[in-house]
Amino acid sequence: MCGIVGIVQRDTNKIGKNIIDSLKKLEYRGYDSVGVATIENNQVKVSKEEGKITEVIEKIQLDDLHGKIAIGHTRWATHGPPSKENSHPHIDCKNEIAVIHNGIIENFQSLKKDLVTQGHVFQSETDTEIIPHLIEQFIQKEQMALKDAIIHTIRKLEGTFAICVLSSLDPDKIYCAKRDSPLVIGINSDRMFCASDIPAFLSHTRQVVLLHDDEFVTLSHDGYEIINFTNMKRVERRPYIVSWKPEMAQKGGFPHFMLKEIHEQSSSLADYIRIKQPSLHKISEKVYDAKKVFLLAAGTAHYSTLTGENLIRKYAKKPCTSIIASEYDSISPLIDEDTIVLPVSQSGETMDTIMAIKDAKKSGAKILSAVNVIGSSITRHSDDVLYLYAGPEIGVAATKTYTAQTLSMWDIGLEIGRISGELGNNEYDEARKLYNKIPSVVKQTIVRSEALANRIASWFAEKNSSFYLGRGLNLQTAKEGALKMKEIAYIHSEAYPAGESKHGPIALIEEDYPVVFIAPKDQTHKRIIGNIMEMKARGATTIGVIEKGDKEIGELVKWKMEIPKGYSEMITTIPYVIPMQLLAYYTAVKKGLDPSYPRNLSKSVTVL
Ligand code: AGP
Ligand code: GLU
Repeated sequence: MCGIVGIVQRDTNKIGKNIIDSLKKLEYRGYDSVGVATIENNQVKVSKEEGKITEVIEKIQLDDLHGKIAIGHTRWATHGPPSKENSHPHIDCKNEIAVIHNGIIENFQSLKKDLVTQGHVFQSETDTEIIPHLIEQFIQKEQMALKDAIIHTIRKLEGTFAICVLSSLDPDKIYCAKRDSPLVIGINSDRMFCASDIPAFLSHTRQVVLLHDDEFVTLSHDGYEIINFTNMKRVERRPYIVSWKPEMAQKGGFPHFMLKEIHEQSSSLADYIRIKQPSLHKISEKVYDAKKVFLLAAGTAHYSTLTGENLIRKYAKKPCTSIIASEYDSISPLIDEDTIVLPVSQSGETMDTIMAIKDAKKSGAKILSAVNVIGSSITRHSDDVLYLYAGPEIGVAATKTYTAQTLSMWDIGLEIGRISGELGNNEYDEARKLYNKIPSVVKQTIVRSEALANRIASWFAEKNSSFYLGRGLNLQTAKEGALKMKEIAYIHSEAYPAGESKHGPIALIEEDYPVVFIAPKDQTHKRIIGNIMEMKARGATTIGVIEKGDKEIGELVKWKMEIPKGYSEMITTIPYVIPMQLLAYYTAVKKGLDPSYPRNLSKSVTVL
C-alpha cells in the first residue's frame, strides 16, 4: 500500500514543505520511493526519486517547490521494483497530466498493450502508468474534457485504486477517485487536502470527509464536489470532526501498529489472492520437477515454511525439508544443480537467509523465493519470486506477513497438487474455493475472538511459562503462537507436538499451568482430546483454539477460541493463528508493554 496526498491552496507559499510534511505522516504506508508533481508557470513539474523521504529531499530539494497545487506519493512497490522510473507521479506523453495511485490495476497489461499500439510511450514497469496515458487517449481521440477523460479512464480500470490527478489543462483543480483503496478529504479555510489517510493533514485540520467506493471528487481551493462515477449522481456529504491525536491517526485509530496489522490481515490476504502472479505456476512446476527441495527461513518465516514442507511432500510426493536458515550447513552437502532452495522472508534482508542462499547458489541450486518487500536483497539473489503483497509491516512482531507467507505456501501447495494430479479437477476447484474464502474467515475469527483474547490475557499476564500444543500441520501454528507470546509478552512459551508432551514436558505441569491447544476438527482431533485430558488431569488450565460448535473439546477446555466451521480440513494454519496473535497482543498490553516495539528485537535481522 502506498501513501497518496493532494493539496490545493490559495497562496503559493510552502507547497513543497506542506506536501512533504503530509507524506512524512503517510510513510508508514510505504517508503521505497517518493515523488511530487506541481504546476509552475502552467507546466506540470514532476520531481521523484527512489529512497525514503528524508533521502529524497536531499537528492531533489523537494521542499522548495512552488505553486498552489501539488500531489505527492510515497511508494510501496507492487508492480516494478523500487526505482526512479517506477516511482510516482506518472505522466502522459505530453507531460500535461500527472497521476499518483495506491492500489493494484489488474487489467493493466491489456490496457497498456492497446495504448502502445496507439503510439503511447511508457517509462516504467508499473500498472499505474497506464492511467495518465489512458486519460490522454480519451482527450486526444475522443476530444473529451479532462474531467470526463478521467471518469472514462477509471471506469475501464479493474482492481483497486485511490488516485489523484493534476494537469496543466485544468491547473486549479485536483481530481481524485477511489475503489477499495482508502481516500479521505481534509477541509481547511486556506487549503484542501485529499489523502490516503487522515494523518496526512491532521496538523492542518480536523474536518474530514470520508469517501466511499466509486466516488469521484473535484477539489479546488474553495471547496469539493463528489459524484458517483458509475451513475454520475452528485453526492452530498458533510465533513465530520475527527477526535484522534496525530500519532493515533497513523495507526488508523488503533492503539498500536501491531493491532492495526492484525486487523489488516483480511485485506492483505485478499490483496495477495487478487494478484495472479505468473511466477506461481513457474515456481510450482520447478519445485514439482526438482530432485531435492529445501525451504529456508528464520523465525516466524520458518514456521510458515512448515506448511510448504507438508504440502510439497503430500502433493509432489517427494522429500522436502524446511531448514532454519542459520542451520544451513546441516544440508549444504546435499545441495547441487538438481536442488531447489525456496527462501521465505518478509523483509528480504535477513542475513542468515541471504548467506544460506549465496552458499546454495555456489553449489548450483535454483533459488525460488517468497518475499514481501519488492526489490529487497533476497529477490535480487532469486531466479524467481512470489511476492506476498502484505504491505509494510511496522510492528516488529510478524502478524500479517506471517499469514501472507503461509498463504503463499498454500498457493504453491495447491498448484503442485493440480500439476501432479494429486488434486483432481473437482478437488482442486473445491480447495481453491476454500482458499479464496480465507480473508473473510480471518475477518470473522478476529471479530469472534478479540474480546475473549482480552479477557484471557488478564489471567495469562500473571503467568511465567506456558505450553502451546498442536499436531500435524498445526504444529507450525503452535510454534508461531508460542513465539508471539515470547516476543511481545515476554512469557516463556514452548510449542510442542501434542503427542510428544507426555514424553517429558508434562513434568512441568502444575496447578493452573497454561496449555494452549490448536485443535481443528481434522484427523488429529481424536488424539488431541487425549492430550487435553492428560494435561487437565495434572492441573493444567487449558485453552482450545477449535472449530465453532466443537462440543467435544469445547466442554473440556476452560476457554474455547472458535474458528468458523468448515475450515478444519483446509488451510487451518491461517485462521487458527489469529486468536493467538490477539492473545499475545492483549497479554502484552495487560503487562504494560509496547507490543509493536518489543525489547531486544529488530524488524529485520540483518546481522549473522
Ligand atoms: C517475527 O515475529 C520475528 N520478529 C522474526 O522471527 C522474523 O520472522 C524473522 O527475523 C525473519 O524475518 P524475515 O521474514 O524478514 O526474513
Ligand atoms: N501498484 C502501484 C505501484 O506498484 C501502487 C503500489 C501500492 O499501492 O502499494 O507502483
